[in-house]
Amino acid sequence: MSTSNKISLIPDVSEIKTIDSIFTLTASTSISVSTGEIMNKGHLLRGYLAVPTGFPLPLSVGHEGEIQLILEGEPDKSLEEPGDESYSICITEKNCLLKAPAPAGLARAVQTFRQLFPAGIFSSEPDKIIAWEIPGCEISDSPRFPWRGMHLDVCRHFFTKEEVMRFIDLIALYRFNRFHFHLTEDQGWRLEIKKYPGLTEVGAWRDSTLIGHALDKPKRYDDTRYGGFYTQDDIREIVAFAAMREITIVPEIDMPGHMQAAISAYPELGCTDQTLRPLCHWGICEHILNVEESTVSFMKDVLDEVMELFPGKYIHIGGDEALKYEWEEQRRVQDRMAELGLKGEMELQSWFIRQMAEHIQSNGREVIGWDEILEGGLAAGAAVMSWRGEKGGIEAASLGHKVVMTPEEYVYFDHYQGDKESEPLAIHGYTTVEKVYSYDVVPPVLPDKQKHLILGSQGQLWSEYIPDFKHLEYMAFPRVCALSEVLWLEKEKRDFSSFSKRLENHKSVLENLNVNYRKGN
Ligand code: ACM
Repeated sequence: MSTSNKISLIPDVSEIKTIDSIFTLTASTSISVSTGEIMNKGHLLRGYLAVPTGFPLPLSVGHEGEIQLILEGEPDKSLEEPGDESYSICITEKNCLLKAPAPAGLARAVQTFRQLFPAGIFSSEPDKIIAWEIPGCEISDSPRFPWRGMHLDVCRHFFTKEEVMRFIDLIALYRFNRFHFHLTEDQGWRLEIKKYPGLTEVGAWRDSTLIGHALDKPKRYDDTRYGGFYTQDDIREIVAFAAMREITIVPEIDMPGHMQAAISAYPELGCTDQTLRPLCHWGICEHILNVEESTVSFMKDVLDEVMELFPGKYIHIGGDEALKYEWEEQRRVQDRMAELGLKGEMELQSWFIRQMAEHIQSNGREVIGWDEILEGGLAAGAAVMSWRGEKGGIEAASLGHKVVMTPEEYVYFDHYQGDKESEPLAIHGYTTVEKVYSYDVVPPVLPDKQKHLILGSQGQLWSEYIPDFKHLEYMAFPRVCALSEVLWLEKEKRDFSSFSKRLENHKSVLENLNVNYRKGN
């Protein structure tokens, strides 16, 4: 635990011992990496320290530097999954040693190391006044959960490539290891797909956007065209940026519901003759993909490009909130259901998801979806994100499936975080920092032998009511800080009053980072 009043870490570390000495970073300090294969971690650290200190911080391979990054095992060859994230740090008057068995651990060590400096180290401007002193200590650290994520909906509102990378860099500071990239929605398709250019030419642009809350009557719109998308080159840049920080991106293509933007571009994917445009308001939409072989092929083609772009093991196929009215009403869908020998629309949804899951798995990847994919039968090997409470997660685990717990009540950061009257418009709910911090992740009702199936949790940032990046920061911070500690520290080491004190100290970090965090309790 952080016992010294000079050391204040978020998330806290598993073990720390203070040493009565101080390391001072000066104009003559240099950095070394033990092998060329982790040079990118050296660049990462140098990138963080060089601007605020204004020092040259030469970087070399070997053991010459006062700051040394030491890889004690083999470098991972694959970007599929975060590797071993354990690490140690030793700070003495002479040097700073950051050691780990894998590059992922070194990435986490770099982030903890940054937090040992005075808060000015987080500034984007050179600061000549500060003495760059670090208190002596020995840290030995590893995470509680292998899945520590943040989700971001870039569809209801669009965030630029630079903003997405800033967000990834911010969550890296809190030792998260997954970024769930929600790329498609009724209101906008945000990923360039070479085979189907209409998805972004048409699907990325809506004609207008709702003003106010979805429940307000009458509905009002701003009559302004809105949109944006990421080219495949943008995505490669984002993936590389995340990889340097050992963050795995989980891309989501949400189907068979939430597809109005795609159906607007390619009407043959839909169930009716209606001409559609990307949706301009919020809420659950009744349009759904049809279940023709051609539609299944189209979506497999999309997934092929997604798998090409994103090296992570998990591909998210959504599956949430797929209203079945059109399937119930359309003769053609009913005939197809009979042809496939399926009993009802739930089984049809399960059949559709299974086509996608098998395709993803046949490419050596794993599939994950929202808890609705349990309805009508869960596809073999599919992992589940339990958002409608913990029930779906408990059921999936009882069937032997892996689970990421994302219950709305605790980890939906589009919810209000204080009294509605004094907060900017949000979707609904009331999820304070303390509530986030109280989350257990592993449901106590789960038998011991199923507990390992709970991979972890992640925070959700749905963006209906998050129009710009400054507001995104307001909704995310400091709840992200609280979640990071829930996911990193063993439960018995967690203590809200200790966290609150550290958070108070940490506000100077957020200010130096120019993060528009929510102030107050
Ligand atoms: C969801 O919140 N619709 C997964």
